[in-house]
Amino acid sequence: METVPRKYPNEKKNQVCSGNEEIWEYTESMTKDGPVLLDCLVNETYETMHSPGKMAGKTVGRLLKMLASITNSKRALELGMFTGYTALSIAEGMAEDGKLITCEASPLACGMARKYFAKSEYGHKIEIAEGICLDTLPKIEGMFDFVFIDVDKRNYLNYFKMILPQVEVGGLILIDNALWMGNVLNPESELDKSVAALNEFVANHDDLENAFLIARDGLNIVRKIR
Ligand SMILES: C[S@@+](CC[C@H](N)C(=O)[O-])C[C@H]1O[C@@H](n2cnc3c(N)ncnc32)[C@H](O)[C@@H]1O
Repeated sequence: METVPRKYPNEKKNQVCSGNEEIWEYTESMTKDGPVLLDCLVNETYETMHSPGKMAGKTVGRLLKMLASITNSKRALELGMFTGYTALSIAEGMAEDGKLITCEASPLACGMARKYFAKSEYGHKIEIAEGICLDTLPKIEGMFDFVFIDVDKRNYLNYFKMILPQVEVGGLILIDNALWMGNVLNPESELDKSVAALNEFVANHDDLENAFLIARDGLNIVRKIR
């Protein structure tokens, strides 16, 4: 199999809440790599973009691909695309005729993502909604079977509430950074409180079930059950 040496760490160390770093590195090394294009994207993102550690990385990326594949997702939504790592991972798992709409405000990030989508065999499934989510989301119509939320934490609960009516019964909503570097234990800042409020909203909602993984910075996997 073709490989590209990964020149940069796959994960931001301060976002690893799941046990000690050695354990984390072991699980990373025992997770199979995705398409080689993703490694090229990681390298270019580290070389050219500010805050490259925003990328979700291999463990979450492979999980997104697997869940999109298991659910045979046909219509997915992503909030927070950055340079397209997770968008490509989700698209890889989706049905061949699946469509992912991904929201991103940064023109620079959109430019790089477009370049990689054009090179990817899964890129044709992805449509970018460029702009601030609070503007773009209300214009996005229809139902979704798969949603990945990885955008500004201040509005986490607002985005979740906005999108919930457009999630099919049985559909998944995946919330990244649900541990917010552990700050949800003692929320102090506005961002800490916002992420903690969303976790509480999910835990107390009768129409939702969830599985809260401590992978990386926490991934709250939510399923709409009625
Ligand atoms: C954590 S990064 C997404 C990382 C991406 N999911 C990945 O793993 O490669 C969050 C992204 O959301 C974008 N963003 C932040 N606030 C936004 C908003 N209000 N509307 C749209 N995009 C926003 C940022 O520009 C950033 O690229």
